Amino acid sequence: MVLQTLVTYGLALAIPALYLAYRHFYNSPPVPAQRREERPVKSIMQAPREDLAPPKDDPYTLEELKEYDGSKPGSKIYVAIKGTIFDVTHKADVYGPGRSYSIFAGKDGSKGLGMSSLKPEHAVADYSDLNESDMKVLNDWHSFFSKRYNIVGKVVDPPATDSSSL
Ligand code: HEM
Ligand SMILES: *[C@@H]1O[C@H](CO)[C@@H](O)[C@H](O)[C@H]1NC(C)=O
Repeated sequence: MVLQTLVTYGLALAIPALYLAYRHFYNSPPVPAQRREERPVKSIMQAPREDLAPPKDDPYTLEELKEYDGSKPGSKIYVAIKGTIFDVTHKADVYGPGRSYSIFAGKDGSKGLGMSSLKPEHAVADYSDLNESDMKVLNDWHSFFSKRYNIVGKVVDPPATDSSSL
């Protein structure tokens, strides 16, 4: 498993960001259009779940969300996307301290998810300056998380995503 991830990682380092985003959702090699529906869409990502709890609407500020970055032993780990807060505690191997995607733990890192960026300066809630393609990547992530993680609340101090309010 570890070796497999390392090999995948090494290979993918050379490919551009858009393909990278694509790869996170569809792992099949490119195929001619007329044959596409014959091939099962297989992803490197965990499968969707059937046992999700009803979504909760509990309010959290971004400040309160910081509590849930996994740094306290036994505490929950939350990741917010576009203000929706997901409980990713059972994937501490991915989101826990020092793990691959810990940058997104305890915060709303929507912009970084949209940009396929792990840079700390991109892991912020304000995604208002994303272009259309990065916006699609962000929406794909929201949908990905919605099918895999319980929704425990929403961020109540969302960024200005509506330029008419400026
Ligand atoms: C070097 C390129 C990358 C490779 C090879 C790669 C590979 C992978 C793999 C194999 C998984 C499944 C991991 C698991 O379930 O344990 C994964 C998940 C994920 N990747 Fe990447 N990744 C790369 C870069 C990135 C970047 C730049 C981002 C920034 C947005 C990102 C965001 C994610 C997220 C959010 C997950 C979801 C984990 C989950 O909740 O199941 N990845 N990636
Ligand atoms: C969208 O923005 C990203 C940088 O965040 C850039 O790499 C990409 O080329 C842009 N795409 C389009 C279609 O403008």
